[in-house]
Amino acid sequence: MCGITGYIGARQAAPILLEGLSKLEYRGYDSAGLALLNGSEMDVRKKKGRVSVLAQEVKKHFFDSHLGISHTRWATHGAVTDANAHPHVSSCGNFAMVHNGVIENYENIKSFLLTKGYTFRSQTDSEALVNLIAYHYYKLPENSENRFLESVRRALLHLEGTYGIAVICRMQPDEIIAARKGSPLIIGIGDSERMVSSDVLGFSGRARSVIYLDDGQIAKVTADSCEVVSANNELVPYVTNSVDWELDSAELGSFSTYMEKEIFEQPKVIENAIRGRISDDASTAVLNGLNMTPSEMRQIDRILFCACGTAWHACLVAENLIEKYTRIPVEVEYASEFRYRNAPLDKNTLAFVISQSGETIDTLEALRESRRKGFKTLAITNSVGSTIARESDGGLYQHAGREIGVASTKAFTSQITICILIALYIGRMRDLSFAQGKEIVGALKALPSAVEETLKLAPELKKLAGKYCKYHDFLFLGRLDEFPIALEGALKLKEISYIHAEGYPAAEMKHGPIALVSPECPTLIFANSGDIFNKVISNAQEIKARKGPLIIVTDSPDRFPEGLADDVVVIPKVHESVRPVVSTIPIQLLAYYIAQQLGCDVDKPRNLAKSVTVE
Ligand code: F6R
Repeated sequence: MCGITGYIGARQAAPILLEGLSKLEYRGYDSAGLALLNGSEMDVRKKKGRVSVLAQEVKKHFFDSHLGISHTRWATHGAVTDANAHPHVSSCGNFAMVHNGVIENYENIKSFLLTKGYTFRSQTDSEALVNLIAYHYYKLPENSENRFLESVRRALLHLEGTYGIAVICRMQPDEIIAARKGSPLIIGIGDSERMVSSDVLGFSGRARSVIYLDDGQIAKVTADSCEVVSANNELVPYVTNSVDWELDSAELGSFSTYMEKEIFEQPKVIENAIRGRISDDASTAVLNGLNMTPSEMRQIDRILFCACGTAWHACLVAENLIEKYTRIPVEVEYASEFRYRNAPLDKNTLAFVISQSGETIDTLEALRESRRKGFKTLAITNSVGSTIARESDGGLYQHAGREIGVASTKAFTSQITICILIALYIGRMRDLSFAQGKEIVGALKALPSAVEETLKLAPELKKLAGKYCKYHDFLFLGRLDEFPIALEGALKLKEISYIHAEGYPAAEMKHGPIALVSPECPTLIFANSGDIFNKVISNAQEIKARKGPLIIVTDSPDRFPEGLADDVVVIPKVHESVRPVVSTIPIQLLAYYIAQQLGCDVDKPRNLAKSVTVE
C-alpha cells in the first residue's frame, strides 16, 4: 500500500517521478505528491486524487530539479485530503519525506515533539517521523559525518511499526536517504543515476540492476553511489540483482483494462506455471524449488497453508486437492490470524504461504512466525525478489507476469495450478499410482486449451452481466472443490462492482443464507459432474422453489431439468483435478462485465490497493 519513488541523476526528476508513480498507482490512489530539490530550494506539490491530477499541477509550475521523491497514497491515518497527502515536510521546512507503512507510536512521538516546539499540519502518523528526523539532525554536531543519514537512523530507532521511506534535506541536496522495515524498498541503478521505489515497476525500465534493502537497513543514495548501513550503523555489503523487464511488461495492448487483459492471459499463465515442472515420463511433477529431498517429503505429517484474500481461496483449493491425492491433513489459516493465534503445530508440519505480491504484511509475518517456530516454510509467489520470496526456505514462482489489476485473476488460477502440481508431486510419493499420476499430468497439459475454450464464453457472460447488474445482492454456491471458487466469485463481484455478495458451500445455505433468497437476490451455483452432482441440483431446486433467479455453471447441462435455471453457463468437461481453474473463468468474466456495466473503475476499485503492506 502506498507507492514511493525517488530519483537523483542528470535528468529532470519530475517527469521520471510521475511516470514511476503512475506505474505504482495499483498500490494506492487516494492522493499523490512530490518534493523536488534544486540546491537548497525545495518545491512540494501534493493533491487529493490520482497521479494524473498531480501531473496537471506539476505541469503548471515547472521547477528545475534533478533530485526528488514522490508518493501515491492509500490512506491509513487521516482522511483523503491535500494536507494528508505525502510528502510531509518538517515544521522547519528543511526535510521532506514519503512513507509507506504505519507508525504505531506516532502519538507519543508527536506529543514529545510538540513540547519541543514542532508544529503539525496533517493528521498523519508520517508527519511525526519527518519531524523526529529534523529533531535528531539539529541535535547532531554540525560537522558530524553522514549527519543526514545518522539523523534518520537515530529517528528510526524510536519507531514502532512499519516503514518504507525516502527522505530529502535542503542542507544535503545531493542525496536521498531511504530505509525500510516491513514495507518494501528497492534501489535502482542506472547510468549515473539512482532511483528508489516500492517496486521495480516504479523504475519504468530505467534501472539496469537493483538492490533490495532488507528490514532495518538504511541507504544513502547519490547519483552514482549507494551506501547501506544497518540499524546499528554498521556498513552492510549488498548484492545487485538484474531485472527481467520483459516479465514486468505493463502494456495494455488492445485491452481496455488490466483486469480484462489479465483474465485473457490465463491460458499462457497456466502454461508458464507448468513449464519445466513435469517429469520426463509424464507421471509426476518436478518441483526442485521446494528444496526438499523425497525422503524429507515423505516425513511430512501435516501441511499448513497461510495467505490472505484471493490467495487464501487458492489455499482452500490446495487443501481439497492435497488431502484427496496425498491423504496428508492440511490446515488453512488466514495469515492475519495465524500470526497472532499461536496455533499448535505438529513437529512434522510443512508450511506454505501463498502471495501474489510477495509483500502482503500479514502473509510475511505468518511466514516469519512459522520459521521462528522452526517449520520449513515455502512460498508460492509471483514476485521474484519479493520479501516473501527472499525470506522463505524455498518455493515456487508463478511466472504469471505482472498482475496490475487490483482484483486478482490470473494470479489465482496460476496459484491453483501450482497447488495441483504440489498435490501431484506429494501424492505420487504416497497414494497416487503411476496411472493416476499420468492422468493428472494429462489434465494439466490440456488445461491451457480448456481455459482458452472457456474464455470464449465472454460474449455470453457480458450479456448475462447486462441482465444481472441491477441486483444489489448475490449468492455464490459450490461444493467441495468449487466451494472456494464460490467464495472467490463473491469476492470478485463485491470488490469491483460494490454489489453485496456471499459465497457458501451449497448445502450450507439452508442453515441461514437461504433467508436471502428472493426474486431480488440471484444465485450462481456450480453443478459439475461428480459424486454429488444430484445433491447440488437439489440445492438448486431449493433456490428455484423460493423464486430466486438462478445461474447454473455446469459441465453437464443435460443432467438437470430444462427450466430449472434462468441461465445456464456451460463449461468444458475436464479432469476433476483441474476443474477449479476452469470454473473460475465464468465468475471472473461475470464480475468483470457487471462492474463494467455499472461504470466502475475495475482496475482501481474504491478503498482497495493491490499490495496490502499494512496490518
Ligand atoms: C482480491 C485480491 C486480494 C489479494 C490479497 C493477498 O482480488 O487481490 O484479496 O489476494 O490481498 O494478496 P497477495 O496475494 O499479494 O498476498
